[in-house]
Amino acid sequence: MAVIRSNHRIAAGVYRMTVSGVPLGRAGQFFMLRVSGVLDPLLGRPISIFGADAGTGETTFVYQTPGRGTALFADLLPGQAIDAQGPYGNGFPLESGGAVILGGGIGVAPLHQLAKELRASDPKRRIDVFLGFREEAYCVADFEQLSDSVTVSVGGIVTNDVDFSENAVYYACGPAPMLHTAAEQARAANARFFVSLEKHMACGVGACLGCTCETTNGRKRVCKDGPVFEYSEVQHVL
Ligand SMILES: Cc1cc2nc3c(=O)[nH]c(=O)nc-3n(C[C@H](O)[C@H](O)[C@H](O)COP(=O)(O)OP(=O)(O)OC[C@H]3O[C@@H](n4cnc5c(N)ncnc54)[C@H](O)[C@@H]3O)c2cc1C
Ligand code: FES
Repeated sequence: MAVIRSNHRIAAGVYRMTVSGVPLGRAGQFFMLRVSGVLDPLLGRPISIFGADAGTGETTFVYQTPGRGTALFADLLPGQAIDAQGPYGNGFPLESGGAVILGGGIGVAPLHQLAKELRASDPKRRIDVFLGFREEAYCVADFEQLSDSVTVSVGGIVTNDVDFSENAVYYACGPAPMLHTAAEQARAANARFFVSLEKHMACGVGACLGCTCETTNGRKRVCKDGPVFEYSEVQHVL
């Protein structure tokens, strides 16, 4: 059981919550979060690790509230408990060399911890971040602390800003149309490109087969075999 340390609104319908009492995970991994003692909804909701702080032992999440499960999170106060199972999933690989990070909307969440781990694993590497939002930007300052450049697009098409022919490894998380466009550009430029996929998840641990997707290497579970995949494996589902 995790304990809420802070939980506050950072943009319209977007919240930032820090908890203690869970094992620290890696970038791209997620927790199944559920409000303790609530029976409806019964299932946890997958939420990515925005930040895992080895110093404090605390984990931070940034989440939207599209439905009942996450709306309940927004009411939690410091000191209250939350059921947090995880960390689950395979996370992003930390490839050597320059990195380009591309986030759309709430897809920025797992990419912050990724920028942190990339920076820690090689302080000299170049990290360029591109963030796209429909109406309101958030978490930009968090990325500025960890990267060489942050380009923000509000109401535009963030993939237009990205040059996929750089000598770098590309990472992305965001809405399917954004991933699809980015994957097309990455394929044309023959770039290495990793994406984090979103699927409805019931168990989060590979048991229910509710989150499978077709890949070039057969059917895979997004929760257990993903959520991070090399785009060439899943390009047809983006
Ligand atoms: C691996 C993973 C990591 C995630 N990380 C984050 C995160 O860091 N922050 C964050 O805000 N959200 C994240 N999500 C999405 C989040 O899990 C959903 O928004 C949440 O489950 C919705 O629950 P709800 O009860 O609020 O909405 P529900 O009542 O369950 O659904 C409300 C609406 O959202 C849609 N929806 C629900 N789940 C998903 C989903 N997984 N993908 C697409 N549409 C969905 C439903 O179709 C419905 O239209 C992640 C999802 C996955 C799979
Ligand atoms: S959510 Fe159950 S197998 Fe992925």
